[in-house]
Amino acid sequence: MSLMNDKNILLGVSGGVGAFKACELLRLFVKAGSNVRVIMTEAATKFVTPLSFQSLGAEQVSVDMFAEKRESLEHVAWSDWGDILVIAPATGNIIGKMAAGIADEILSTQAIAFDGITLLAPAMNVKMYNNKTVQKNIKYLESVGVNLVGPETGYLASMITAPGRMSEPEIIFKRARQLLLKRSSLKGRKVIVTAGPTVEPLDPVRYLSNFSSGKMGYALADAAAGFGANVTLISGPVHLEPPPGVRIIDVKSAEEMHRAVVKECPRTALLIMAAAVADYRPSAFHKQKIKRHSDSMRLNLRANPDILKSLKRNRPKVVVGFALETRDVEARAIEKLKDKGLDLIVANNPTEKGVEFGSDFNKVTIYGRKGLAVPLERAEKFDIAVAVIEESVKFLKKRGSKRKK
Ligand code: CTP
Repeated sequence: MSLMNDKNILLGVSGGVGAFKACELLRLFVKAGSNVRVIMTEAATKFVTPLSFQSLGAEQVSVDMFAEKRESLEHVAWSDWGDILVIAPATGNIIGKMAAGIADEILSTQAIAFDGITLLAPAMNVKMYNNKTVQKNIKYLESVGVNLVGPETGYLASMITAPGRMSEPEIIFKRARQLLLKRSSLKGRKVIVTAGPTVEPLDPVRYLSNFSSGKMGYALADAAAGFGANVTLISGPVHLEPPPGVRIIDVKSAEEMHRAVVKECPRTALLIMAAAVADYRPSAFHKQKIKRHSDSMRLNLRANPDILKSLKRNRPKVVVGFALETRDVEARAIEKLKDKGLDLIVANNPTEKGVEFGSDFNKVTIYGRKGLAVPLERAEKFDIAVAVIEESVKFLKKRGSKRKK
């Protein structure tokens, strides 16, 4: 079952122009199976209406602290109900009230009564954001355990590009999901994940590549950040937003990916090679576009370095590979595990129904030494990623305790 299923989300909306994006955020939570209750400040209702949230699937929308038809002490009851309080957008005003402990309307009252996981997505004019008191308030809230996502540097309502724009709903959703994982077993540890295809240029307009979407690798980086790791995601060209809290290194070819992995390896606890690295590249790069001459053409290819096999010095403590197989999946995966000297290998078959290339779902089996086989039912890639990281952490712990002996 998906991690977000049946989670109780308190979505606070304060009065900023980013309020319209809170509708999309609500939709993402509802789509993931979570229950959402919305708390709006009066200022927020000038940007979006309570009806917008109700229509999009909010269980309840609360605006007025002193409405007649309400449960007694609703603010306390709601704060007991919520697994997480997400305030998006969080204006300088609500941030200031939270830092000072002021509860003078429904959202600030909820925020102060709530003692669970809190996530703020600040959004405001750049001058307000840079204001020393606002900065002090943000730092103070962080120091008492409040989590922040963004703001991003982007095009603001004031028609300039500057820091202050609310993070995109998908990023806020992912940060909330990381926090709801409640895992810290990789806190402070370095994790490298590779993702996506590599592209091997043939001439200035053509390349060889494969159908990898990068979604599995991005989900792994996302989940690893949720376990508290310092994650470096080395990514081939994909059409995906990097997950929150992850450092990204963009590469194109297998050789570039190889160099990036080798450079990042020192002091790494866990390497997960989820990238679909091209085995071959054109043996020559044509500086000019190749012209059509005849009905057939021969292409000379040259083997790319095998990144996993090449890792000797600075080898990460635990190394996990992927095996993409279209037949004899188990036998071939185990062969690769041994051949590449891996600790674990995650085997999948993209020709199976419902887990094709580009799908948000996957169905895998994790194989290890001594007959270890952990089959995972078809699930969202994020949930598969959590299971893969959990297995890797078990291995990391075993390895750590062996070394100490
Ligand atoms: N891999 C790698 N370097 C390569 C090719 C693959 O490090 N040049 C890694 C992949 O990231 C994956 C694992 O090796 O973790 C297995 O990749 P896969 O493409 O399934 O296998 P190959 O070794 O390329 O073998 P084949 O294509 O013959 O199945």
